[in-house]
Parts: sequence; structure tokens; C-alpha cells
Amino acid sequence: MSRFRVGCDQEGYYLEDSFSRQHPLRVNFSHPEFLTRLRGAGKKTELVARAVKAGGGVRVLDCTAGLARDAFVLASLGCEVTLVERSRVVSTLLLDGLKRARKVPELSFAANRIKLTNADSLVLMAQTSLEYDVIYIDPMFPEKPGAAAVRGPMQHLQRFLGTDEDAMALLSVALEVGCSRVVLKRPPQGDWISPIQPTHVFKNKNSRYEVFVS
Ligand SMILES: C[S@@+](CC[C@H](N)C(=O)[O-])C[C@H]1O[C@@H](n2cnc3c(N)ncnc32)[C@H](O)[C@@H]1O
Repeated sequence: MSRFRVGCDQEGYYLEDSFSRQHPLRVNFSHPEFLTRLRGAGKKTELVARAVKAGGGVRVLDCTAGLARDAFVLASLGCEVTLVERSRVVSTLLLDGLKRARKVPELSFAANRIKLTNADSLVLMAQTSLEYDVIYIDPMFPEKPGAAAVRGPMQHLQRFLGTDEDAMALLSVALEVGCSRVVLKRPPQGDWISPIQPTHVFKNKNSRYEVFVS
């Protein structure tokens, strides 16, 4: 029997890890913790919003969709977000979460501003003539010994997917395609060094956003 299993019940799709006692992973934008984040979201409270320069009509290509929490915050501030996720399982959970969110009055504004593509961003960026104001990259970096471990649903996702080895490649391609703003999210401390100097850095105790403006 395999360790991970995708299932569906009356609440929608979920991913179960038979090695863990955590609740199955779902994409649920109605979760009380996320709703609290969303209600307080603004440029003062959300570093991602400052890094992206979020606002009405800003077109964002989110190359690493994951659970789409950052994307949802950006969309709630008026951004038009295209999500790209290469894992078919994660895309299934996401699509399901977005469909449900579109039916919730408090979430529909943001959910209707998000499109999802199941693809590899490296391939997509190389093929498409891109018309975005911002490219956003948030790969799963390896955990650093001594650093605070990721928790909750993101921990679940990390167990399922492992770390993303293509962070450098994503950044390089994003910088080459001629988008005027590229934002890379990474852990606040770590060995990972960007190949070029960012124009701006926004940092708090959980994350570091490197912004490359051309
Ligand atoms: C750390 S998670 C992103 C979390 C997300 N920002 C959020 O707020 O929930 C990284 C995700 O990016 C996806 N990913 C990594 N490299 C990718 C690529 N080249 N193309 C598409 N998706 C990619 C992984 O499968 C994973 O789901």
C-alpha cells in the first residue's frame, strides 16, 4: 500500500498521509485561521503584498502555486493571479478549493481573480509570450538545521513533495523573460544565494522576499 492516498468526501478532495496523525490535507480558504489572515490583509500586514506591489488589476504569474495562500491574499487585494502548479495531486486539491471558494460570498471576489494551470512553470515560461506585471516564485526550500520547521498544511505538503530543486532555474528563467518585477520568497536565513543582487529585500522572522526590478 502506498503511503499517500487521494480521496474525496462531502467536503471535497483530500490527501492522506498514512505515516502521519495530521488531518488530511485539503485546500480550504474558509479555514478560520486563513479567514483571519485574509480579513487583516493589506500592504502593512502582508509582506508579500508589498513585495509584489499588489493592487487592482496587477497581473501576477505565481509559478509555484502550492496551497495558493499567498495568491489568494494577492487576489483579495485586487491582483489577477495565474497559478501554475506542476503536481497533479496538488492541482486537484487546489481546483477543488477554488471551486468551493467561488461559492462563498466573502471569498468569491478573490477566487474569481485566480486561474489555475497544471504545468511546469519552467516549460510554460519558455513557451509563452508572457504578459504579466509580476512573476512570483515561492519554492519549497530544504529545511535548515536549527531553523523553525514548517508547520501545519505546509508541512504536509513538504512531506508529500519534498524540496523543490529548481529554485535557481525558476529565478533565472523568470529574470530572462522580460517581466519588470520578479519576486522570490525564501527562508529568512539560509545558504541559498541569488545569482544577482535583488533591488529590494523585505524581511520578517518567517520569510525573506527578494525583489528584482528591471
Ligand atoms: C512552497 S509551495 C508554494 C506555497 C504557496 N506560495 C502558498 O502560499 O501556499 C511550492 C509549490 O511549488 C510547486 N512547484 C515547484 N516548482 C515548480 C515548477 N517548476 N512549476 C510548477 N510548480 C512548481 C511545488 O509543487 C509546490 O506545490
